[in-house]
Amino acid sequence: MNEKTTAGGEIQLIDLSNLLQLFFTSDIRRQMGELAAEKHAKYILTVEKKKDSIESVLMEHLRINGAYWGLTTLDILDKLAAVDQETIISWVISCQHESGGFGGNEGHDPHLLYTLSAIQILALFNKIDTLDIEKVTNYITALQNEDGSFSGDKWGEIDTRFSYVAICSLALLKQLDKINVEKAVSYIISCKNLDGGFGCTPGAESHAGQIFCCVGALAITGSLHYVDKDLLGWWLCERQVKSGGLNGRPEKLPDVCYSWWVLSSLIMIDRVHWIDKEKLVKFILDCQDKENGGISDRPDDAVDVFHTYFGVAGLSLLEYPGLKVIDPAYALPVDVINRILLR
Ligand code: FPP
Ligand code: ZN
Repeated sequence: MNEKTTAGGEIQLIDLSNLLQLFFTSDIRRQMGELAAEKHAKYILTVEKKKDSIESVLMEHLRINGAYWGLTTLDILDKLAAVDQETIISWVISCQHESGGFGGNEGHDPHLLYTLSAIQILALFNKIDTLDIEKVTNYITALQNEDGSFSGDKWGEIDTRFSYVAICSLALLKQLDKINVEKAVSYIISCKNLDGGFGCTPGAESHAGQIFCCVGALAITGSLHYVDKDLLGWWLCERQVKSGGLNGRPEKLPDVCYSWWVLSSLIMIDRVHWIDKEKLVKFILDCQDKENGGISDRPDDAVDVFHTYFGVAGLSLLEYPGLKVIDPAYALPVDVINRILLR
């Protein structure tokens, strides 16, 4: 039994273990192929091969979102000890702006999207305490609008992605009480569509990425009762196509990253048994570069860190053997979340 202590009570007990023991019998694993875990860790650690260390790569190429994807992949693979934590932490801190928000790299303008990645990276290393929590909190709370929505930065664009990012950040900082949660939830509900899904603003079409954001924010705030789980579960499970992969909207091609956006949402609303997990595992494994490591969006495409992360994270949601369990609402390993929230 996998005890989730994190997402508002409604996803607390997810028992996939019996099913998965059957599911991952050695015969089936042989048919599906194996996760090239060592190769993927090596790929993350040497990506772009400019210098032979992840720290330089994170600083020069991937910026702060890339650092979160790469480092979380390593943690799920239990390889986080391979990086120089001090160098990464001081680089993350150097991305903080006077306003309290974080930029995508040193000297870049702050944005909520980068601020969450910075907090997540510090969470992975158990270093959230190094932050001036009040300063970061003030940056985030100032971006809540009168209707409960969030702007991503001072330029004002509004999107349910930013609602999620603000809520997830504040929950990790244990500062959720500093915003108007009721209004934040009611704005998210105003983005719900007749098909049960959610879009980026009221009336915008349902999209699996936005659904993850809205369902994740509702899970973190204990508001999942506002979701029509059967209707949304139906829309989400229809994202699975013949190859076993998931797409993000009707008529789109399957893509490994939707293994995360769709699957995490299905788990949060307790409808993950509505898709064919075995076929999805096979699809993700088929997207591996087994020689050089890394995972691509679909078979035979070029690999990248984003899809490597969401492929490995998707397999973790499917309880693929040997991987750390990831929390579907916070997108961080469950042990990291428990360390923060149970303290
Ligand atoms: C699809 O993007 C994904 C989204 C719209 C959701 C993005 C969510 C965040 C940035 C919140 C933070 C996420 C985590 C995991 C902590 P896309 O541009 O690939 O969409 P497309 O497939 O339609 O091009
Ligand atoms: Zn993708």
